[in-house]
Amino acid sequence: MSHTTPPPARLPDGSRLELGTATASYQIEGGVADDGRGVSIWDTFAARPGTVRDGRDGTVACDSYHRYAEDADLVAGLGLDWYRFSIAWPRVLPEGSGRVETRGLDYYDRVVDALLERGVKPAATLYHWDLPQPLEDAGGWLARETPAAFADYAEVVYARLGDRVGLWATHNEPWCAAYLGYAAGVHAPGRREGGAAHRAAHHLMLGHAWASERLHSLGGSAGGCDVGIVLNLAPIRPGRSEAVELADQIDAVRNRVWLDPLAQGAYDDGLLRVAPELADPGLVRPGDLEAIHDSADWVGINYYTPVRPDVVVAGRPPHPERDAYPGTDPFDLVVPEPRTAIGWEIDATGLTDVLRETAARIDRPLLVMENGAACSDEVIAEGRVADDDRIIYLRDHLAAVDVARAEGVDVRGYVVWTLLDNFEWAEGYTKTFGLVHIDHTDQRRTPKASYAWLAGVVRERSSSLTE
Ligand code: FCB
Repeated sequence: MSHTTPPPARLPDGSRLELGTATASYQIEGGVADDGRGVSIWDTFAARPGTVRDGRDGTVACDSYHRYAEDADLVAGLGLDWYRFSIAWPRVLPEGSGRVETRGLDYYDRVVDALLERGVKPAATLYHWDLPQPLEDAGGWLARETPAAFADYAEVVYARLGDRVGLWATHNEPWCAAYLGYAAGVHAPGRREGGAAHRAAHHLMLGHAWASERLHSLGGSAGGCDVGIVLNLAPIRPGRSEAVELADQIDAVRNRVWLDPLAQGAYDDGLLRVAPELADPGLVRPGDLEAIHDSADWVGINYYTPVRPDVVVAGRPPHPERDAYPGTDPFDLVVPEPRTAIGWEIDATGLTDVLRETAARIDRPLLVMENGAACSDEVIAEGRVADDDRIIYLRDHLAAVDVARAEGVDVRGYVVWTLLDNFEWAEGYTKTFGLVHIDHTDQRRTPKASYAWLAGVVRERSSSLTE
């Protein structure tokens, strides 16, 4: 590591709310066959008919594999402190373990340098769902070898980027990876194995803990790092007393399965009733919970919408999302208006609530690592995309973070999802969350009204600090 490199930017100190925007490798990079990249579970899943709404995939996506410098310009144009990006495991280790593909690391090296040259601090996520297919073939997150391979992968990436990247997330939304992937089957790898998904959850946490340990032990030579995990925690709001017990069960699978082992080194009794798999000593082995306990320096929260469970009306089926909560009683979900274009209720107070509730559960600095809205994004004329609904959504949610901070909740960052319209997983390209519109015929990037608005907010916030 070079002696001239300044130490990497680490966790913000909280003196002000630092702002950023986020993306994920499979959603933006494309270039799936470039420079020796291996196959990921999302390549395989998206190729299966019926898995993605528009039948498309991430083969080209936003072509950021080739256009990363233009994208770094767009981030810099916003004046943001941070850019949160993710690393595609199969670019670095095409078989998932063993042979390292240096050209894959070279790409992330270029991304990091492009950001730093433009005065933007990089925050890296190691796992935003693109598991190498050979590891899935060997059992995926249901196998204990996968977290071990994840820690090795983390070490390889850190050895290359750790001198310039000081803020690391292990996983993004392990709830989606475990429960949408292995129970509901609506995300890769598309397995519908019910309670086995709790095993995936434990292995994801173990992978987090082991990777965190590895990064910290290497960190000394690279200038140190702050390692966290990004969770899609949700406020669970039962509308009536009959749904209170359901709410507790849902809270267990959505929130406590991650927070309890981190904060207390244990899975609680309520969770174990919903997820008896987590009481299996063959799964949760001696030392596992100790390793997970206190393994996050910070906790990231992705917030979009609250969860409002209700009891199932006799004769009606449970809500389809129930499949993603194995072990809970069947439930329905209430989704009031207003909603975004993806059908998610808009409720900014939920963000203040989830920050407050998480702070009560774990004593760690919090970062909002994703928040944003899918909108209809009317293209008014060449070069103008009107997305006032996104502006209102972001304005209200940013204000909700300020409320939490004013109450004393230790929130240090707020990151907008997302920079670019991209491959929105099972929704394909039909739902757009970007600050920047992409014409997928020629990859032309057009900043939307929300982009100009956010740049203005960044300017205002920084000038109010210097006044
Ligand atoms: C989150 C994901 C992110 C994006 C947003 C809309 O669950 O982390 O990749 O799809 O939702």
